Amino acid sequence: LSVKKELEKILVTAPSHEFEHTKKDLDGFRKLFHRFLQEKGPSVDWGKIQRPPEDSIQPYDKIKARGLPDNISSVLNKLVVVKLNGGLGTSMGCKGPKSLIGVRNENTFLDLTVQQIEHLNKTYNTDVPLVLMNSFNTDEDTKKILQKYSHCRVKIYTFNQSRYPRINKESLLPVAKDVSYSGENTEAWYPPGHGDIYSSFYNSGLLDIFIGEGKEYIFVSNIDNLGATVDLYILNHLMNPPNGKPCEFVMEVTNKTRADVKGGTLTQYEGKLRLVEIAQVPKAHVDEFKSVSKFKIFNTNNLWISLAAVKRLQEKNAIDMEIIVNPKTLDGGLNVIQLETAVGAAIKSFENSLGINVPRSRFLPVKTTSDLLLVMSNLYSLNAGSLTMSEKREFPTVPLVKLGSSFTKVQDYLRRFESIPDMLELDHLTVSGDVTFGKNVSLKGTVIIIANHGDRIDIPPGAVLENKIVSGNLRI
Ligand code: UTP
Repeated sequence: LSVKKELEKILVTAPSHEFEHTKKDLDGFRKLFHRFLQEKGPSVDWGKIQRPPEDSIQPYDKIKARGLPDNISSVLNKLVVVKLNGGLGTSMGCKGPKSLIGVRNENTFLDLTVQQIEHLNKTYNTDVPLVLMNSFNTDEDTKKILQKYSHCRVKIYTFNQSRYPRINKESLLPVAKDVSYSGENTEAWYPPGHGDIYSSFYNSGLLDIFIGEGKEYIFVSNIDNLGATVDLYILNHLMNPPNGKPCEFVMEVTNKTRADVKGGTLTQYEGKLRLVEIAQVPKAHVDEFKSVSKFKIFNTNNLWISLAAVKRLQEKNAIDMEIIVNPKTLDGGLNVIQLETAVGAAIKSFENSLGINVPRSRFLPVKTTSDLLLVMSNLYSLNAGSLTMSEKREFPTVPLVKLGSSFTKVQDYLRRFESIPDMLELDHLTVSGDVTFGKNVSLKGTVIIIANHGDRIDIPPGAVLENKIVSGNLRI
């Protein structure tokens, strides 16, 4: 009850032009918070988790083998591409939206996305629109940039996800005293995860507009996943289902490697496909969950979802997503929690959902500057906004790159490489401490460079490092 009162106090501080959407946000928050208070015990019962049946996760090759129909343009015209663009670039030391970080030849994530869709529209003479789900953190900066694409053959729409109040961990009351989100209140609000897409998209009115235009599916993905391009075979599979039964939800999954312990996995639960995240797993079963042998695949967050189904379920309030409780400590030291949901968790609410096991190339996320080094290098070539692995690389796997903390911020990282090294024959790179790379360095095999505290290592221009350990303040 006291939360309700606090929320009402916040709402009355909203200026009239912000009143309606603030009310919607706070109502949405109240429902989520209510569910959170009512929940007892874990959200999944480990004993009920089963391996998904064979036919519920199909290999991509099988989908591809069906080929493409002649009318692929009309199929494409029923598609809307949605990119999740609520996140900031803070983990790479950047202030604004993550999508505006330069990732390849000065192109940002957003530039590459627009190029990909423009290429699609030009090739097939279609009008596939791009929709960005922004958050209050990214909306202003993103919109400023959008003018840049006004001459591109891609219609771009945006909508805003909700803004929810962070909750004091002890008192369980909102930290915010009013609706503002600057000054004292900067840290009092948060975007509640990408699961928010269903209600925000619906509330924005865009869902109805697209249904009215004859659109049938959205392809949703993380804007930082450079591998999430529109796949015509998957789209065709959805539009022309082999058994005539329309599939309302496709989750692209890919095979786990030992490095992928974080991602959620698809399981069979009470007769339906369900995404289970590591945070939901009881401690005693975490190792089993992480094992590559039992749960072989993980969610790429590339999702294909029926617009009509979203509308139907949203109107019945039937989209059920587990609550993720995310604890944070604010700058002043206050412990808070934020309640979030994940878009893929809704899979269990849809009819006839399917997993498709796609090649790793459809999962190319850039979360750190180590990932950035890979996508900037000659391991990849860029073609109409899409990155493909260079044919000159003998093995189809990507090297394991670990750059130390002096490389965490994009600015520091860029300063430390005069040019991006040749990495075609690299298997493993570890760099730690104060290290810089001159022009045209080649890295091959396993290379480990460690500058101890107070030392500095400058790799000279043109150096070729093959299976080498460089340490101390050794200059080579
Ligand atoms: P995350 O930061 O959640 O990445 O953003 P992750 O840790 O890989 O996450 P999961 O496992 O997919 O959750 C993933 C994408 O979702 C967007 C980000 O901008 C990014 O593109 N996002 C995240 C939102 O749009 N809104 C949010 O509230 C959170």
